[in-house]
Amino acid sequence: MTKLQEQLQETTTFLQEKGVKDIEFGLILGSGLGELADEIEEAIVIPYAEIPYFPVSTVVGHAGQLVYGTLSGKKVLAMQGRFHYYEGHSMQTVTYPVRVMAAMKAHSMIVTNACGGVNESFAPGDLMLITDHINYTGDNPLIGENADEMGPRFPDMSNAYTPAYREVAKEVGAKKGLHLKEGVYMGWSGPTYETPAEIRMSRVIGADAVGMSTVPEVIVATHSGLKVLGISCITNLAAGMQATLNHAEVVETTERVKAEFKELIKETLAVL
Ligand code: HPA
Repeated sequence: MTKLQEQLQETTTFLQEKGVKDIEFGLILGSGLGELADEIEEAIVIPYAEIPYFPVSTVVGHAGQLVYGTLSGKKVLAMQGRFHYYEGHSMQTVTYPVRVMAAMKAHSMIVTNACGGVNESFAPGDLMLITDHINYTGDNPLIGENADEMGPRFPDMSNAYTPAYREVAKEVGAKKGLHLKEGVYMGWSGPTYETPAEIRMSRVIGADAVGMSTVPEVIVATHSGLKVLGISCITNLAAGMQATLNHAEVVETTERVKAEFKELIKETLAVL
């Protein structure tokens, strides 16, 4: 057994003793969307600080706990607050919760984030279904020893974002009168926002949006055989497309659209 597998065994045993079992969907709730976990029924709440091998989230506005229970009739394990590479965590640490979801037999993951719009047809407040990503972090959570029982050495990323899940989200969105965008998410390490020159490059190489999360988690989800639905909230236009960038605007936009974002996820989850 690898060290990772030993650690996972300890973490999953701990969570099982807390009452976590039969997970269907893992949820990663990004900036501003953590409140969705408050709607989970018969919730079991476990602070990250208590969980073996979980680091503590350092980002303001991220609660830092797992919430297990039922949402839209599905058994979910939700991360209320995620870990970011820019916090100084290794890629393996950032993605450890996804390993836990997979080890506890989740078959799917829904991942959300706040990001900057690169596509000129996007506006702040738009929701974007992620079709694909560009890993521009310069790192990869799968670097190192590979346990073949956990996943392949060279995972195929051709359908990392499950097309059928996207179709369901699109139908749900259309019924709600939401004009969902679709596009490629480009993952940067952060914590700086990109420069205008970096954004021009991002557009040329095929990005529709840029952000500082999601890519590592989706790589590990794919390695683990999880189906993935990824939804981004375009909180601002990327650097060079508006005068300046600031975190306050990111928070403001997520606040403005979180009600419809939450409804979209809940109603999609009910159909998946
Ligand atoms: N760039 C990177 N990450 C972000 C942005 C952005 O413009 N907005 C929100 N997260």
